[in-house]
Amino acid sequence: MTDAITYELLHQDRRTGARRGVIHTPHGDIQTPVFMPVGTQAAVKAMRPEQVREMGAEIILSNTYHLYLRPGHELIREAGGLHRFMNWNRAILTDSGGFQVFSLGQLRKITEEGVRFQSHIDGSRHILTPEKAVEIQNALGSDIMMAFDECAPYPADREYIRDSMERTLRWLERCKAAHRNRERQSLFAIMQGGMYRDLRRECAERMVEMDFPGYAIGGLSVGEPKEQMLEILDDCVDYLPQDRPRYLMGVGTPDYLFEAVERGIDMCDCVEPTRIARHGLATTSRGRINIKNARFERDFSPLDPECDCYTCRNYSRAYIRHVFKAGEMMSAMLLSNHNLHFLINMMAGMRKAIEEDRFTEFKKEFYDKYYGTA
Ligand code: GUN
Ligand code: ZN
Repeated sequence: MTDAITYELLHQDRRTGARRGVIHTPHGDIQTPVFMPVGTQAAVKAMRPEQVREMGAEIILSNTYHLYLRPGHELIREAGGLHRFMNWNRAILTDSGGFQVFSLGQLRKITEEGVRFQSHIDGSRHILTPEKAVEIQNALGSDIMMAFDECAPYPADREYIRDSMERTLRWLERCKAAHRNRERQSLFAIMQGGMYRDLRRECAERMVEMDFPGYAIGGLSVGEPKEQMLEILDDCVDYLPQDRPRYLMGVGTPDYLFEAVERGIDMCDCVEPTRIARHGLATTSRGRINIKNARFERDFSPLDPECDCYTCRNYSRAYIRHVFKAGEMMSAMLLSNHNLHFLINMMAGMRKAIEEDRFTEFKKEFYDKYYGTA
C-alpha cells in the first residue's frame, strides 16, 4: 500500500547537510525545509486561517491531547474532520499527546498500557494509549499523525532513558497496528533516547526497520545546553534515511532553525512566535524587540523596516505599543502576524539559499544582522 505522503529530495547543499525538498500530501505540497505554525486547539492564536495561508504557510500543527479533551474527536469527526472544522484546507500535522500528557507532572502516571492523566481543564480522569492516540488522530483526519511516545525529562539516567525508549518502541508497534487510514493519513515515528548517542542510534535503527513515511526527533530542547543538543542532533540525523522527511519537534527560534536546517532537518514547529507576540515581543532581522519599551513611544517606523508583512506595511511601533499597553487584542493579532511571517519568510530564504548552494553565506549574513555583529 502506498503512503498518503511522499518526500521528494530536490537538492542537497554542497557544503552542509541542508537539503531542499517537497512533501506531497493529500492537502497540497509542502516546500521544505518548513516551519509549521502551531494551532494547538484548532486555532493559530490571534490569526485567521486565511492570514496564515497568505503568508505562505503550507502546513500547520495541532494537538491530539487538547482536541480530545475539548471539543472531543467525535465532534470533529461529525464536523467532517479537522480541516473542515477549522477552515484550513492545506496540510495538518497532529502531535500525539505524548508530549502534552508528560508535561502534566503530578497529574499523570505512565504504565505499559499508556498514560493515565487528569484533565488540566476539569480534573476528569482519562487514559491515553497508543491505540487511542491513533484513533483520535484518525478521527481528526490530519495528513501527518505522530506516534504516541514518551518525551523523557532532562536530565535522566541511562536506565530510565533505556526503559522509556524500549516502551516507546513497543508503543510504536501498537500505533502502527492501530492505524486505519494509510491512504489518506501518514504515521510518523518519533526517535527518543535522551542524550545517549548509542540509545539514539539503536532507537533510530529499530524505527527505520519498521519503515515509516517520515521520522521525527523527539526529546530534544527539553532543558539541555544548546551545545549538547546540537551534538546529539548531528548524530540523530546521521541515523535517519535520506529518502524520508526529518522533523525536529518543538524547535522554532531563528538560531535553532538555522542550526537544524544546516544539519539536514526538513520540518520544525514551535509555539514561540505566537506566544511571545502575546507578551509584546517581536522577532526582527536585527534581533528581538520588546514593544513595551519606552523608546518606541514615538517611533513611527515599522516593527522591522526590512519586513513586508501586513503589520509592517500598515502599522508603526508606536501604534502597536499603544494597543499593547491599552490591552487591545489588536496587539496580539499584529505581532503574531509579523512573527509568523518573519519565520516563514526566513525559511523561504533558506530554501532559496540551499538551491543556490550558498546556505553558509546566507546563515552568516542573517546572524551578522540578527546579532548586530555586521
Ligand atoms: N514535542 C516536542 N518534543 C516532543 C517529543 O519528544 N514527543 C512529542 N510527541 N512531541 C514533542
Ligand atoms: Zn513584519
